[in-house]
Amino acid sequence: MASKAFLLSLAALPLAKTETVLGIYIFSRHGDRTPKALAPTNLTSLGAEQVYFSGGWYRDQYVASDASSPIRALSRDTVALGQLTVTAPVDNVLQSSAQAFLQGLYPPAGSITTQELRNETEVTAPLGGYQYIPVNAVDSAASSKGSENNPWLQGSSGCDNAVVSSNNYLSSAEYKTAYADSLDFYQSLLPVINSTFAADAANFKNAYSIFDYINVATIHNKTIPSSDLLTNETLRQLQVLANVHEWGLAYNSSDEIRAIAGATLAGQVVEALNDTIAGKGKQPLHIQFGAYAVFSSFFGLSKLSSVSDDFTGVVDYAASIAFELVTNASVSSGYPAADDISVRFLFSNGSAADVTPAVYPLFGQSETTLPWTTFLSEMNKFAIDDTPDWCRVCGVTTGSCASSSTGSDGGDAPTASKSGNSISLPVAGVIGALVTLAVVLGAEALIFAFSGLALTKKSTLAAAQAANGGSAGSKA
Ligand SMILES: *[C@@H]1O[C@H](CO)[C@@H](O)[C@H](O)[C@H]1NC(C)=O
Ligand SMILES: *[C@@H]1O[C@H](CO)[C@@H](O)[C@H](O)[C@H]1NC(C)=O
Ligand SMILES: *[C@@H]1O[C@H](CO)[C@@H](O)[C@H](O)[C@H]1NC(C)=O
Ligand SMILES: *[C@@H]1O[C@H](CO)[C@@H](O)[C@H](O)[C@H]1NC(C)=O
Ligand SMILES: *[C@@H]1O[C@H](CO)[C@@H](O)[C@H](O)[C@H]1NC(C)=O
Ligand SMILES: *[C@@H]1O[C@H](CO)[C@@H](O)[C@H](O)[C@H]1NC(C)=O
Ligand SMILES: *[C@@H]1O[C@H](CO)[C@@H](O)[C@H](O)[C@H]1NC(C)=O
Ligand SMILES: *[C@@H]1O[C@H](CO)[C@@H](O)[C@H](O)[C@H]1NC(C)=O
Ligand SMILES: *[C@@H]1O[C@H](CO)[C@@H](O)[C@H](O)[C@H]1NC(C)=O
Repeated sequence: MASKAFLLSLAALPLAKTETVLGIYIFSRHGDRTPKALAPTNLTSLGAEQVYFSGGWYRDQYVASDASSPIRALSRDTVALGQLTVTAPVDNVLQSSAQAFLQGLYPPAGSITTQELRNETEVTAPLGGYQYIPVNAVDSAASSKGSENNPWLQGSSGCDNAVVSSNNYLSSAEYKTAYADSLDFYQSLLPVINSTFAADAANFKNAYSIFDYINVATIHNKTIPSSDLLTNETLRQLQVLANVHEWGLAYNSSDEIRAIAGATLAGQVVEALNDTIAGKGKQPLHIQFGAYAVFSSFFGLSKLSSVSDDFTGVVDYAASIAFELVTNASVSSGYPAADDISVRFLFSNGSAADVTPAVYPLFGQSETTLPWTTFLSEMNKFAIDDTPDWCRVCGVTTGSCASSSTGSDGGDAPTASKSGNSISLPVAGVIGALVTLAVVLGAEALIFAFSGLALTKKSTLAAAQAANGGSAGSKA
């Protein structure tokens, strides 16, 4: 008797505790590209494939009608533009990566887009029903225009205090030691790199550009001068030194302004997820593309770098992090209360299709599923989510900071102008030249016409298994 009851309650358990994903924020690096040292930098075909397949993984996980953790009420096959935001800096590699990712997430809708006219002619939209999803170009003071053409992480951040802080790394004792210790190593590689780097540039100062230049060649170039110098150990050493260098520029626990890129991302994540909850799921999907430095800064601020030293390394091409909003509360009777919502963090060190995203604990906690309120208060310890705050901590008073520090309603007391200026950084961006209003309106009309097809009743049975797989080995 008792054992039967026990079995029954066991059977009931998974049903009672079925998780629902309410929304997700994805931040991704671009795919494989040409080297920064040979600007202008371009996304390669391999790179486009990496982000496209990554988008496909996210589709299978969260979007498709047979997805393993379908996002509640998300349009499945034809995109509903009001349900998502996509942003990327004004940078050809990042913008292109976002486009390719979106093609994996919402592939061409095919026959769904075939329409019959009054005169009975059938018309199929171009490119098999390619879905036009705008990628908003972030072009505010805090974004990094042409970031992939710039070998110097803060060079285009526009944040004066962060530039000063990162420059301090270049005069630190650690830097000087690493520079001296590695000088012979870099000089010995001149026969490989001298068509691009002069002798006085073959040193630790260019640790990332040199690693990047050689790394790209090991993927693309059939012949490399003096390639016999590039042993596995040398390649590994180049990567380790580049990691040390970039980490030094991206994060310093006693000088948090250096991690401005991560603080800005945190602000954007908090604002977006909060909007998802406040809007009761009207906009559950947020996607942003950005440079590796943003990952590093965020890993430092969120204490992931104490979970594993690996988090101090530059992430691989097409790597992504994802914040899932999840609940165990029933969603059949309405949207859950904020108290019933939790956040889970996932990371894939490469295209999600190759390296299954795994969960990691944020903020030095042991739990990987954090109540929304805990997540919020931890993120808000370092998140920067409005322009006046950004201007203040960066010490910038010109450009868009000039208007935000004076305020349009007269007084220049920072507290008075605060609410009036709480424009989020991505919203402060402009719609990219790639996307015309006509395309947006046209696509919306199209989707409106077909949205009846989109809402399939979701099965929540297979939820909650996103994450436990290992991440493990990846390329160089
Ligand atoms: C990137 O593409 C542009 C335009 O096609 C080209 O001029 C440039 O040489 C390319 N860069 C590299 C490194 O191949
Ligand atoms: C049907 O209408 C479309 C749009 O007006 C026109 O382009 C097409 O030629 C028409 N087809 C026939 C068979 O009349
Ligand atoms: C942080 O920066 C300061 C000053 O730039 C430097 O002295 C210190 O060693 C750095 N700490 C770490 C852990 O890099
Ligand atoms: C690069 O190094 C090779 C091998 O040492 C040498 O033959 C060549 O002249 C050098 N090229 C330049 C541009 O310095
Ligand atoms: C790889 O090929 C590109 C394009 O041909 C060239 O510019 C670059 O110098 C090569 N890199 C190396 C390390 O040989
Ligand atoms: C170097 O690394 C590659 C790829 O990881 C591996 O296939 C190869 O066997 C290694 N070579 C040596 C000499 O260890
Ligand atoms: C969340 O959104 C609500 C409603 O828009 C707003 O009142 C609140 O200030 C936001 N909270 C945060 C932390 O952004
Ligand atoms: C991601 O991969 C790169 C290259 O293999 C490595 O340097 C870095 O430490 C890895 N990061 C994490 C968090 O595993
Ligand atoms: C839902 O319940 C399962 C089983 O108890 C648990 O593992 C999971 O973390 C819970 N999810 C949330 C969002 O609380």
